[in-house]
Amino acid sequence: MLKVAIVGIGTISYIHQWAIEECAEGELVAVCDINPSLKVKYPEIPFYKDIDELLENEELDVVHICLPHDLHVPMAEKCLKKGVHVFLEKPVGISLEESMHLAELSNHYPGVKTAVSFQNRYNLTSLTLKELLTNGSPDYEVGKIKAVKGLVTWFRPESYYEAEPWRGTWENAGGGTISNQSIHTLDLMQWFAGKDILSCQGRLMNLLDYNIEVEDTAVGRFEFEEDINGLYFATNAYEVNSSVEVEVITSRVRYLIKNNALYVFDEEGYEGQLIAEDETFPGSKSYYGLGHKHCIQSFYRAIQNDTDDYIHLTDALPSMQMIELLKQSSATEQKVYLKELVK
Ligand SMILES: NC(=O)c1ccc[n+]([C@@H]2O[C@H](COP(=O)([O-])OP(=O)(O)OC[C@H]3O[C@@H](n4cnc5c(N)ncnc54)[C@H](O)[C@@H]3O)[C@@H](O)[C@H]2O)c1
Repeated sequence: MLKVAIVGIGTISYIHQWAIEECAEGELVAVCDINPSLKVKYPEIPFYKDIDELLENEELDVVHICLPHDLHVPMAEKCLKKGVHVFLEKPVGISLEESMHLAELSNHYPGVKTAVSFQNRYNLTSLTLKELLTNGSPDYEVGKIKAVKGLVTWFRPESYYEAEPWRGTWENAGGGTISNQSIHTLDLMQWFAGKDILSCQGRLMNLLDYNIEVEDTAVGRFEFEEDINGLYFATNAYEVNSSVEVEVITSRVRYLIKNNALYVFDEEGYEGQLIAEDETFPGSKSYYGLGHKHCIQSFYRAIQNDTDDYIHLTDALPSMQMIELLKQSSATEQKVYLKELVK
């Protein structure tokens, strides 16, 4: 059984703890957080205040990094250098440059795996749609992808940023909704499009008068290879966390993921037919889905069997490209091409 530690035992960590407990492949043996008052959450296992001490004193197979975004890359580097596999919460880092640096560094440690937590890819709706777009359907012609749309209308109260001020700063978070809440939707958009990103015309803005630096709202039009159009809108300024919507239009049909269900619509746009439904996580955070468990379990199995069947660091780079494009396009008020950013 893999020996696992969580670094950063704040808000998201309980989902990791739950997922680890659900997986026969791993066992939580230690936790680490700079906040000693959190020690009481895990009275039965060793608690460390410093990741260096954790890595020095425990024989670990995997570290889960559940930290503010600016600490992802430096902490992942420490684990790689110790030969410990990393399960990294999204985003990879606070910038594309930093994320590419980690990907480059990881090439020097080929025996050490790094997975990124894009758990929504493991939802049954996502897996079913990806399979249809990749391999077609035995019942009808799927056609060629023409457009993808991602819509996230959520709400975060000001107390969300006040509770953990890193969430509101460029230096620590690298972005607001683009890096924290709707990055999953950016990831799904590019994963379904299945083509390289070429450009973006986008804007970041604040619709709420909170005392934060980062945007609460973002809009962008992405161009992918083969003339695929990607439209994205995300906000934390709505009233509630409405269901995320991801739509894919092909030359023959339209697919829609909404309310944890996947529908296909015929060419005329009606007769929506349910084709898959997700299981959901119990309780108020049901929108997290059960994806974390599947994402973590796949990673553990990939470590045990030395396979590639997990979400690699490099799989997460397109989402960082999209975030960087949104930031640059917003700052210059112009369409920005990826080739101008990555030379
Ligand atoms: N995949 C998802 O759906 C999902 C959902 C929520 C959050 N997240 C991600 O999880 C990560 C953590 O987010 P959160 O909301 O739980 O943050 P949080 O602020 O609630 O928790 C972060 C914890 O890290 C600790 N910490 C800070 N610096 C540290 C250090 N140097 N060493 C050890 N511990 C340190 C803090 O004390 C805190 O307990 C972020 O990357 C976030 O984007 C992912």
